[in-house]
Amino acid sequence: MKEIQIITSAHEMKNFAAECKAQRKTIGFVPTMGALHIGHISLINSSVKNCDVTVVSIFVNPTQFNNPDDLKKYPRTFDTDKAMLETTACDVIFFPSINEMYPDGLITTQLDLQGLDKVMEGEHRPGHFAGVVTIVKSLFEIVNPDVAFFGEKDFQQLAIIKYMTHAFNMPVEIMPCHTVREEDGLAFSSRNIHLTPDERKDAPLIYDTISQCRNKKLTMTVYEVKAWATNRINSSPYLKVEYIEFVNSKTLQPLNNWDECEEQRVCTAVTVSKTRLIDNTVL
Ligand code: PAF
Repeated sequence: MKEIQIITSAHEMKNFAAECKAQRKTIGFVPTMGALHIGHISLINSSVKNCDVTVVSIFVNPTQFNNPDDLKKYPRTFDTDKAMLETTACDVIFFPSINEMYPDGLITTQLDLQGLDKVMEGEHRPGHFAGVVTIVKSLFEIVNPDVAFFGEKDFQQLAIIKYMTHAFNMPVEIMPCHTVREEDGLAFSSRNIHLTPDERKDAPLIYDTISQCRNKKLTMTVYEVKAWATNRINSSPYLKVEYIEFVNSKTLQPLNNWDECEEQRVCTAVTVSKTRLIDNTVL
């Protein structure tokens, strides 16, 4: 088993990154909020394959939670996470405190994200993306990665981070990674552990339904497919669609007609009791 270096101070992390750069080693970075699962491991494996050194951060970022209950119940499982990381070829865990990441208090940076943050998650979770860009920008400044790995499950987050790095000329490449799914199609998520056995049994209906939209769009309008998909997911007594949108994959703006653009995506958020699951797929 591999001994992983754990770094908790931003200063020490910056020094480590500077040493890597001096030795001309590339740094791959996987930012996480812990509660690691196979989806994270696949991001880490991509980093290990593509970069000389892999850094994984574990930080539950308070400013991206618009719901205080969600923040309180977010799983914090450092020991299990560390054990899981020891089975990978990850080199460093960056595990900072809140004070280390927010020395001046929980202030967020407001960036103009060209409307990417105004739809879907942005509309339903006010302030969420301001929190995400604030922390990712700080983490990039501290870890100084050459490549950062993000899952497509958080498709809107991925689009926003790509835009942010482009707009600020950040010297980091954003590498998108496919969503990893359970055998029945449910996307791996740190939140899945909150599902009861009955809820877990119905949850695959989410991916099954959004996947079928690809065929439905051949014969139905945008509004008809939306109504069909919403009703199908809501037919489970445990699932409630918060939104389902068919969007332009580049601008994330909702479509009114299928011929508006070439690259399209269906994105959804579904509540299962107090748990909120998101998923998306290409159309
Ligand atoms: O996707 C996540 O886990 C978080 O949003 C991230 C990117 C680690 C920022 O806190």
